Amino acid sequence: LNYQVPRTRKEIFERLVKGLQRLEYRGYDSAASDIDGNSICLIKKMGKVKALDEELYKKDTLDLDEKLNTHFGIAHTRWATHGEPSALNSHPHRSDKDNEFVVIHNGIITNYKELKKYLINKGYEFESETDTEVIAKLIKYVYDNRENDSITFSALVETVIQQLEGAFALVFKSRHYPGEAVSTRRGSPLLIGVRSEHELSTEHIPVQYNNLLTISFYSSHLHNCLYVFPVFLSAHSAVIEYTNKVLYLEDDDVAVVTKGELSIHRVNRQAGEDPVRAIQTLQMELQQIMKGNFDAFMQKEIFEQPESVVNTMRGRICFESNKVVLGGLKDHLKEIKRCRRLIMIGCGTSFHAAVATRQILEELTELPVMVELASDFLDRNTPVFRDDVSFFISQSGETADTLMALRYCKKHGALTVGITNTVGSTICRETDCGVHVNAGPEIGVASTKAYTSQFVALIMFALMMSEDRLSLQERRMEIINGLKVLPELIKQVLSLDLKIKDIANELYQQRSLLVMGRGFNYATCLEGALKIKEITYMHSEGILAGELKHGPLALIDTEMPVIMLIMRDACYVKCQNALQQVTARSGRPIIICCEGDSEMPKNAYQTIELPHTVDCLQGILSVIPLQLLSFHLAVLRGYDVDFPRNLAKSVTVE
Ligand code: G6P
Repeated sequence: LNYQVPRTRKEIFERLVKGLQRLEYRGYDSAASDIDGNSICLIKKMGKVKALDEELYKKDTLDLDEKLNTHFGIAHTRWATHGEPSALNSHPHRSDKDNEFVVIHNGIITNYKELKKYLINKGYEFESETDTEVIAKLIKYVYDNRENDSITFSALVETVIQQLEGAFALVFKSRHYPGEAVSTRRGSPLLIGVRSEHELSTEHIPVQYNNLLTISFYSSHLHNCLYVFPVFLSAHSAVIEYTNKVLYLEDDDVAVVTKGELSIHRVNRQAGEDPVRAIQTLQMELQQIMKGNFDAFMQKEIFEQPESVVNTMRGRICFESNKVVLGGLKDHLKEIKRCRRLIMIGCGTSFHAAVATRQILEELTELPVMVELASDFLDRNTPVFRDDVSFFISQSGETADTLMALRYCKKHGALTVGITNTVGSTICRETDCGVHVNAGPEIGVASTKAYTSQFVALIMFALMMSEDRLSLQERRMEIINGLKVLPELIKQVLSLDLKIKDIANELYQQRSLLVMGRGFNYATCLEGALKIKEITYMHSEGILAGELKHGPLALIDTEMPVIMLIMRDACYVKCQNALQQVTARSGRPIIICCEGDSEMPKNAYQTIELPHTVDCLQGILSVIPLQLLSFHLAVLRGYDVDFPRNLAKSVTVE
């Protein structure tokens, strides 16, 4: 690591912008940056990080070569929740025109209206429509009304967060505390990248409790942290080229950086609380978060699937003995087997992974399986019992709705299991046990390889649960053999890319696209339609073919494009019936079917033939043509595949 302390404004900007670019997939409505200098400068720009970057380098507005006394800056890329995307609403927000305090924020402050009213009554003037601005004003209010002149920056922040409700990850800076930054979180993710000029010889940082005078941060072994290069960030991809050492903050931790030294503070120590924060080493490599030869991250991630599913299975399936061991679950297996039901909870694509595997989970576990969208599950105050097992499926491990559903299930005494792709994420840390799907970092906002890996992980769970059921052994073997050749079959599906591009060429000017199927392939319809609407902005619906005559048939005519999934499984005849009904109404479907299926009508508009596999794995193959189709459609329609409008990769707000 050749990190050198940046000294000029330009160097700091470069580092901030690079970090933001790596985080941009999490929000890209506007971006802004602020650094210490002889005067604090706040630069804000609507749109993507590139726009901010260009603004920074307009020489006439700033002296880029100015040497700065401190080397500290903050920057933020926004996904709007309160207030439209605009330069004014972008972060940092400030306490006043002199920038006494500035703050950046991820999350939502739910009591901001009350706070705003209070502060307006006290004479504070607001300039943006955001919830965040109350935090900047509130810290100034606390500072202005301090009783003790030597109050520390962290004590101010501790007071402020006691007044905040909702979710937040915050970084503060102030003219009153030059060279110092304070950061804290509740509900939203926040981690700190650390690196030292010398090998870090400490593995953890003790927490300083305000009520515990005996713990002193500047104890001798912590001197190793003297050269610490701390970065506060919401995902580790932002610093991976500088360090692979991170520590995760817990809710209400307040982290302070002064002159390169990091300390962590809390107001009170709760019973049973860990008094240290461990420094963890990430396995991620820089090249994993680069696009390589692909035009978009999404495209790269689609083509990574032959390897990513292998990584999900690696070391977990023994193809000789037909044994499946998920290390993160094995100690809880007995308890899971005794449960009343399995509840699978997620949002978006992760929810679809639950839909996709529900049938095989029911078959192999012989348990009732509920699949739930996290938001709806919470809205219904769904009854949860101590003998339920609840699964939280989440690529990022940070989705707010899924996280709240997890806390809800925990409160009701259910066992909680995480199925995530992000080691160290909040869902990983808060669940009782879990499985990392190991698909590797996913940057494209539209999820692809994480879905197929979640799918494989849930199938492996079903296999693990049924290991001692004699009557199920034949079925298990069939599936395990199917998993063995899966990567090869995925490669074959990917080789259809050009054909799918041609189909996209014929469809890209359409307004709508229906995707229809049933049984094991119903989830593919939902997921395919989601991919299409997410990145092409076409109206798209995933339709259960069994429901065709209860409404969707009314949409069918010679114009409406319909994709039908007709795979060789128990629903084959029923799907053929649906096809008849569509063609009888002059519909010209695009059919996704198994290779060499001679019963497919010759009047189909197009057919996409896929290798045949075990019924419960077919959905892994059948989703790939739709991933590719949505990609090509989006490119042809001129949209930015990795940054679909209004969306964000990780939705850490309700
Ligand atoms: C967002 C993303 C989707 C994702 C969903 C759930 O909406 O754009 O791609 O499926 O969140 O995210 P999670 O990280 O919990 O899987």
